[in-house]
Formats: sequence, C-alpha cells, structure tokens
Amino acid sequence: MEAAVAAGIDGIAADCGGMLTCATCHVFVHEPFASRLPGADGEELAMLAFTATPATPASRLSCQIRLSAELDGLTVELPASQY
Ligand code: FES
Repeated sequence: MEAAVAAGIDGIAADCGGMLTCATCHVFVHEPFASRLPGADGEELAMLAFTATPATPASRLSCQIRLSAELDGLTVELPASQY
C-alpha cells in the first residue's frame, strides 16, 4: 500500500494509513504472488468483509502485504471501487 500510494497509483485510497480499519486498500493479488504471501490473519479477514467491491479468494488488504525480494514483480488488480 505504501509503495503504491508513494508512486501515485490511483485506486488505493488507504484512508486509515495502514491501521487496518478502512478496507480501502483492497487489491486482488495475481498468481504466483498470491501463493507466496502469508495467509491473512483474523483482523485482515474480518476487514475483508467490509470491502466496497466484494472480496474473492484473491483479495488482500494491500497495507498488510510486506514487500520482499520474493514478491519482486508483484502484480495486483484494483477493485472497481474502494467506496
Ligand atoms: S489502509 Fe486501511 S485497511 Fe489498509
């Protein structure tokens, strides 16, 4: 989320600044990267119930994705709306 916001990517609102209270940083993570991510914890899963665009198995809150060398090349799709 922070990298996307810093790069000026439209579509990731991140209203709470990464505090896991807004769900406006929703993204759909493409494979093979989705499989490389640690699973969402209970708090993230709970917030995914509040996304404006319905969550799918590929959904993650981007503020919970910690970038690493393993994720180099990560691609995501943005939902139609964050609100
Ligand atoms: S930035 Fe608010 S939940 Fe991710």
